[in-house]
Amino acid sequence: MKKEEGNPQAEARNIKVGNDNYMIAIGLCTHLGCIPAFRKEEGNFLCACHGGMFDASGLVLKSPPPRGFDIPPFKIDGNKLVLGEVGPEYQAMKDNGVTL
Ligand code: FES
Repeated sequence: MKKEEGNPQAEARNIKVGNDNYMIAIGLCTHLGCIPAFRKEEGNFLCACHGGMFDASGLVLKSPPPRGFDIPPFKIDGNKLVLGEVGPEYQAMKDNGVTL
């Protein structure tokens, strides 16, 4: 998902590829694993199972989810985003506790 800049906590979860910011996340609710739906008009994700809500960066807006969306390993290869491999950007996020 391509992102806008603004919120520092959300920006810590953003990835810059070229001139654009993106959010990478495993789109499963961290409560019990349902799949939240993105609501374009509201700019957030709503989990229909128990009403959990996440912002466009995957941060929790409304419980019961205990944490934001998990961020999978990734690396940036030029202007490409490679999922499943650990690059320095992912490692830095992991070291800062942003990936969980
Ligand atoms: S599984 Fe998403 S709020 Fe419970």
